[in-house]
Amino acid sequence: MHIWFLAVVLLNGARAVSVELPLNKTSWQQYIVSPQSRHVVPSAIAISTGNVWNADALISGSGIARLTRAQEQYPTWPSGTTAEASSEAGPNTSGSYYAANAIDNNLTTIWNDATANQYPDVLTITSPSLVTLDGVTLESSTEGYPVNFTVETWNGSSWAVSGSITGNNETRCQVPFSQNVTTDQIRLTVTADQPSASGDYTRVVELWPGLVPLIPSVVLDFGQDVVGFLQIEFAGASTNAPGIRIAFSETLEYLTDVSDYSRSERGSGSSKLTPGSDQIAVASAPMNWTDTNGCKYNGIQVCADGLHAFRYVKISLDSISSDEPYTSNWGFVDIKSVSLNYTAYVGTPSSYSGWFECSDEQLNQFWYDASYTNEITIDTFLKDTTEPRGADSPTLDGKTVIFDGAKRDRDPYVGDIAVSGRSIYLTHQDASIAASNVLADLAQHQSSNGWIPPASINNYTLPLFDYPLWWVATSWDYILYTADTEYASTYYPNLQAVLDNWYPSMTDNSTGLLDKPTSYGDYAFLSRYGAITYDNALYVLALNNAASIATFLNLSDDATRWLQRADQVSQDVDKYLWDSEVGAYLDVATNKTRHGQDGNGLAIIAGIANGTKAQSALDYLGNKTALSYGNSFMDDNSIPGSDGSTRVYAFTSYFDIQARFLSGRADSAIDEIRRLYGCMTSQDPGTTFWEGINNGTAYEQGTTSMAHGWSTGVLPALSNYVLGLIPIAPGYQRFSINPSFPSGLSWARGQEATAYGDVYVEWTSVNDVITINFTSPNGTLADVTVPKKNSVKLDGTTVWHSSNQTKTGIEVQQGTDSISLIGVSGGQHIVVSS
Ligand SMILES: *[C@@H]1O[C@H](CO)[C@@H](O)[C@H](O)[C@H]1NC(C)=O
Ligand SMILES: *[C@@H]1O[C@H](CO)[C@@H](O)[C@H](O)[C@H]1NC(C)=O
Ligand SMILES: *[C@@H]1O[C@H](CO)[C@@H](O)[C@H](O)[C@H]1NC(C)=O
Ligand SMILES: *[C@@H]1O[C@H](CO)[C@@H](O)[C@H](O)[C@H]1NC(C)=O
Ligand SMILES: *[C@@H]1O[C@H](CO)[C@@H](O)[C@H](O)[C@H]1NC(C)=O
Ligand SMILES: *[C@@H]1O[C@H](CO)[C@@H](O)[C@H](O)[C@H]1NC(C)=O
Ligand SMILES: *[C@@H]1O[C@H](CO)[C@@H](O)[C@H](O)[C@H]1NC(C)=O
Ligand SMILES: *[C@@H]1O[C@H](CO)[C@@H](O)[C@H](O)[C@H]1NC(C)=O
Ligand SMILES: *[C@@H]1O[C@H](CO)[C@@H](O)[C@H](O)[C@H]1NC(C)=O
Ligand SMILES: *[C@@H]1O[C@H](CO)[C@@H](O)[C@H](O)[C@H]1NC(C)=O
Ligand SMILES: *[C@@H]1O[C@H](CO)[C@@H](O)[C@H](O)[C@H]1NC(C)=O
Ligand SMILES: *[C@@H]1O[C@H](CO)[C@@H](O)[C@H](O)[C@H]1NC(C)=O
Repeated sequence: MHIWFLAVVLLNGARAVSVELPLNKTSWQQYIVSPQSRHVVPSAIAISTGNVWNADALISGSGIARLTRAQEQYPTWPSGTTAEASSEAGPNTSGSYYAANAIDNNLTTIWNDATANQYPDVLTITSPSLVTLDGVTLESSTEGYPVNFTVETWNGSSWAVSGSITGNNETRCQVPFSQNVTTDQIRLTVTADQPSASGDYTRVVELWPGLVPLIPSVVLDFGQDVVGFLQIEFAGASTNAPGIRIAFSETLEYLTDVSDYSRSERGSGSSKLTPGSDQIAVASAPMNWTDTNGCKYNGIQVCADGLHAFRYVKISLDSISSDEPYTSNWGFVDIKSVSLNYTAYVGTPSSYSGWFECSDEQLNQFWYDASYTNEITIDTFLKDTTEPRGADSPTLDGKTVIFDGAKRDRDPYVGDIAVSGRSIYLTHQDASIAASNVLADLAQHQSSNGWIPPASINNYTLPLFDYPLWWVATSWDYILYTADTEYASTYYPNLQAVLDNWYPSMTDNSTGLLDKPTSYGDYAFLSRYGAITYDNALYVLALNNAASIATFLNLSDDATRWLQRADQVSQDVDKYLWDSEVGAYLDVATNKTRHGQDGNGLAIIAGIANGTKAQSALDYLGNKTALSYGNSFMDDNSIPGSDGSTRVYAFTSYFDIQARFLSGRADSAIDEIRRLYGCMTSQDPGTTFWEGINNGTAYEQGTTSMAHGWSTGVLPALSNYVLGLIPIAPGYQRFSINPSFPSGLSWARGQEATAYGDVYVEWTSVNDVITINFTSPNGTLADVTVPKKNSVKLDGTTVWHSSNQTKTGIEVQQGTDSISLIGVSGGQHIVVSS
């Protein structure tokens, strides 16, 4: 045997080389990101400031950490000291922000400069007598701490730099001088402030003459983004009810003494409870605290927001003045443990009904990171944890749903499910209900004119133009992946109403195109109106999807009608929106300068663009929009107030990536995936994908959701186009296996759960031989496509040969570069193209 085998190797050279597949079918499990139980503990102390003893106890699980803070005595400037500033905001309706507020020792008043994003901001303090200082302490507001600044002192004839700070990120910042300085004038020069979505300002509470001890705090790192209710086990405290303030953040960059985002930030009335941090009054006896939405005293004092999504949590011995007399900002607090009651979907090896693995570890990790991003948005819809702006709904309360993001809005939006829905079906089939609960609920809230709300926010009234089309497309996806006939027939009248009533009423009958009025927004609230390629391409996709649903229900008249309309709209898009000058679809008919990733991607996916146009549009966008962190969603900044050419959405990038795979550009799709997802995995929080990117960072600062289901498109893209498995008929009754074989990949394999049982696919590409092994359940049919070489064998029998047409029992279709075997029935099969 050995001699014979050796002979084969010698004779057949390269052909006998085997591919190094992992040894077993569990190796994919090494990439799983989710916590493996609901009890999650921190993995590291990221930072600790002030008087904190034995912080490591919070990681090691043994012993007790103690935070201690003395009653504070603040140093004061000599009486008669004055302050002047480069600018002062106000006085205005919200108050006066004079320079003098920085030296009045009143912690409720601040100096606020008047010039957003302009530097330097300068504060000059003049004392009537000489003072000797070992340093100064800058106390700033939560929003507006100086990041880079110098402190200069007047030596009688000139200014000398006595202290210089870069990268400050604390509201209390000590500036120690290298030696004592005796002076009567001191000057603070700020050259960078805390970044803020509403403009960067310097906001100084006090500039104290001397070094004031730092507030004791510990920042715990949970190692990855997590969501749920924080629990703290206190072992005791001083008897003065010391206060604890807790701030959460998905990134270190946006961690301050208030959370990067909290429910109170968007809430009002009873849903606006906190200033952004959660407060605790610690009793002297041991006590267990769970972060719960509400207030401990009088309905308004010592309050917390409850659920948070975060990677970092900052625990400080501190209090806010409005909580007096129930908390104080000094004493000591002993903490035994901090943990999280994780509430989202727990993705364990056994919960994965489908999986993916290939020869590229980076792509594998993206797939499982995307799965985790989706998992932490699958949670129970609860009154106190959903988006506070009118999203609570009795028909959703208590149900499992898929939210848009873990941190915010925490409302299930149907457009987001266009991506996150597919990610569910391909990973955790038992969570499909998280999508169907939402789709059903939105259908039940359809308006009498046929419009379907995008989400429950504002009591189901947020006017989005595109999301009712996503309801159609996501309904088809759900039916396609699950074969839920009952859903299809129950909500079929809703499908008819939205496509036959509402969208016709929004159609400009002179062009046949949807005409977006100014009263409607879209997925990014872009101020673009009229005939928009994105909306019309999505309309075509939705009409085609609706026809598939009608066909599934044997309602061929509707199917024919909707296909005809899709064809007509396709022609109209080509007629009115194709820009032959650059060779891409315009964003809107009224502006001849702008071209969008969303419209071009969907026009290709929906089949509007013929092959020539698809290649041209992808060339154009590939050259014009590529950035180191993905492809921008527009090719210029001409949408008012927009940063289209630097903003990247993984949501719309998914359309572009699919379009590239569909147009035979697997390598450019993989390149885009590596730039886009590589940018996100290389930064905090590390394993979850963000709502949007600008200049390589979170596009809306701390408010940005850093775990957004609509950014998980890499998962379905890899499953559909690298593994190559795509359902064609509901429940995979028919499916295609058509891998794109990107360069550099030698194998891929994966499994998907179907209504008929599991489908397993494995391919190798070695030395010009493509081998596809697959196992499919009885009752299913597979259409298998391989690159055209010399011959194709199915289960050892030659079914196609370049030199003669072999007649076999299987239908064979020839493409320009490919061979397809049509309708391979269930069983274990091997297809070889060589
Ligand atoms: C399967 O592969 C994984 C990763 O390579 C490894 O950790 C595991 O031990 C293997 N299991 C078996 C049964 O060999
Ligand atoms: C601090 O300033 C606030 C706002 O101007 C004022 O209401 C308060 O009385 C001041 N506190 C003291 C101790 O002066
Ligand atoms: C420096 O100044 C501080 C504060 O005024 C004072 O406590 C300290 O004794 C001085 N140190 C020296 C070496 O003069
Ligand atoms: C602060 O200064 C450092 C060091 O000069 C610099 O790298 C950084 O970009 C500055 N930060 C900002 C926000 O300007
Ligand atoms: C704040 O800055 C310090 C010093 O540069 C750094 O060690 C710490 O990690 C930063 N903290 C945050 C939350 O960025
Ligand atoms: C706090 O919870 C821990 C763990 O469940 C328990 O052992 C302890 O007795 C609780 N402490 C108090 C004061 O309830
Ligand atoms: C975790 O939170 C969920 C949801 O509020 C609750 O049902 C469950 O009892 C909590 N588990 C623990 C251990 O506190
Ligand atoms: C939401 O709208 C429905 C239907 O118009 C109405 O019956 C209900 O009272 C509203 N709910 C709230 C909280 O406003
Ligand atoms: C366009 O025509 C359809 C009938 O074909 C009609 O239902 C619809 O209201 C018209 N649209 C507008 C905006 O008038
Ligand atoms: C695509 O359509 C354009 C005209 O709109 C035509 O010139 C071109 O030949 C077509 N390409 C294909 C591949 O049909
Ligand atoms: C840029 O355009 C050229 C054709 O003009 C095309 O060959 C190339 O692939 C495009 N580059 C990208 C990154 O799409
Ligand atoms: C189209 O975009 C250009 C380029 O930014 C802009 O100057 C112009 O105002 C826009 N035109 C319309 C009609 O919106």
